Amino acid sequence: MEREQWKSQLGFLFAAIGSAVGLGNIWRFSYQAYEHGGGAFLIPYLVALVTCGIPLIILEFAIGHKKSGSAPLAFAKINRRAEFFGWWPVSFVMFGIVLYYMVIIAWCLNYCIFSATMAWGSDPNSFFFQGYLGLSDKPFEIGGINLTILVTTAVVWFINWFIVCRGIGKGVELANKIFMPTLFLLTVFLIFYAITLDGAVEGVIAYLEPDFQEIMDVTVWISAYSQIFFSMSVGFGIMVAYASYLPDDADISRNAIMTGLGDSVFAVVAGLGVFAVLGFMAKSSGLPISEVVTESIGLAFVAYPKALSVMPGGNIFGMLFFFSLVVAGISSSISILEAFCSAIIDKFGVRREFVVTSVCMLGFLGSAAFTTNAGLYWLDIVDHFITHYGLIVVGIVECVLAAWFYDIRIFRRHVNRTSSIKIPRIWDLTIRFFVPAILAVVLAMDLITEFSKPYGGYPYSALILIGIDWLLFTLILAALFTKLPWKYDYMLHSREKDENSDQVR
Ligand code: ALA
Repeated sequence: MEREQWKSQLGFLFAAIGSAVGLGNIWRFSYQAYEHGGGAFLIPYLVALVTCGIPLIILEFAIGHKKSGSAPLAFAKINRRAEFFGWWPVSFVMFGIVLYYMVIIAWCLNYCIFSATMAWGSDPNSFFFQGYLGLSDKPFEIGGINLTILVTTAVVWFINWFIVCRGIGKGVELANKIFMPTLFLLTVFLIFYAITLDGAVEGVIAYLEPDFQEIMDVTVWISAYSQIFFSMSVGFGIMVAYASYLPDDADISRNAIMTGLGDSVFAVVAGLGVFAVLGFMAKSSGLPISEVVTESIGLAFVAYPKALSVMPGGNIFGMLFFFSLVVAGISSSISILEAFCSAIIDKFGVRREFVVTSVCMLGFLGSAAFTTNAGLYWLDIVDHFITHYGLIVVGIVECVLAAWFYDIRIFRRHVNRTSSIKIPRIWDLTIRFFVPAILAVVLAMDLITEFSKPYGGYPYSALILIGIDWLLFTLILAALFTKLPWKYDYMLHSREKDENSDQVR
């Protein structure tokens, strides 16, 4: 079967950055930086980017490109017994992350409309939790499905379906060629506007003021490594699939470095806008910044609306802000969908339209679980387990597979064959020892915290039944997909790009 290709390298780069830049960059990074030493957090963050993020993204691009396949096919070509580890990431991103990611995009879409009239009134907190989500008291008090959220989630799924159904060139690539410049312009406008607000400078100072004491703390480094992982979409199986559509002579290392830098620069710059607004709000309410800053969901859906209510032109600013979240979100969600669909197409040889349509229908049903009155709790718990354990384990497996069960030098030579920036030998050592070791430390620290106190104060029963079971469910799915036979067995032995580089001297 002929594999589709990106129409241009720029199209690929936009798609890769589009996948990396997502909701995580806008609301997660700035809070992390503020919490962990402000400007000083940039040190562990940049170290994590250079020592883990970029080496891993180069590896994922190299695997996908050389082996010409989605994660399961590419991993199976490295080692027949590794297929399962290709199915697991695409299963947990498809039947985990993307299900609630779509719901959050739906909230953003709703809030884009709410901004026009400032529908949250004088109490954005009660509006969001009670009025909009109708949040119950505990995870097992499921209540009913919230129709507004369900319908908007259906719209979001439909947009994703429409894009991914059209394939790589006319779908994913074209969409990102529209989304990325739009997101860039929106971000520039929002930041410039935010910076002019009264109190903005104090906000930015609070965000960037370095506190070097903080970075002596090992947990700050762990946070930097975890943040890089989620933010750059590594361990998702996405970058493997995306690179498989690159032409033979693609410049892999330059694209990888630009994706990593693009993602990080966007996160840091978006933080300026976020904190300028928080600074403005602190000033107008007479509170210290520390009292107005909150994390992730609270930041976008409570703190921001509060600021918009008192901001000149707040409704336009709000509409554009939430719209930028929708754009950033969709460019990431389509990449997740593509990672899974390309895996199914590779293995079962089914037509794209059929796969994408069935997967989107199933996905929408899955998303419904996060639109109930307990949806927010479920989302929080499932997200915690998948991002803390799934992604990190996949990262370790990828390195071990490429460096210990294969010859990592083959991948380096493959990358260097056509890339303008040559990868030095130290990359081999980084993938062989450093990245797996650091990820093992992150995993161990996560496990220690997990057992020392229940995550988020939830009862252990909820953490086990919702979080751990969800993770188990994705493991079972992955095992099932692995067991089923390949429609075209020859794909496992099909020609790879650049077979000469396999003869490592
Ligand atoms: N990398 C995507 C994000 O940051 C998933 O949201």
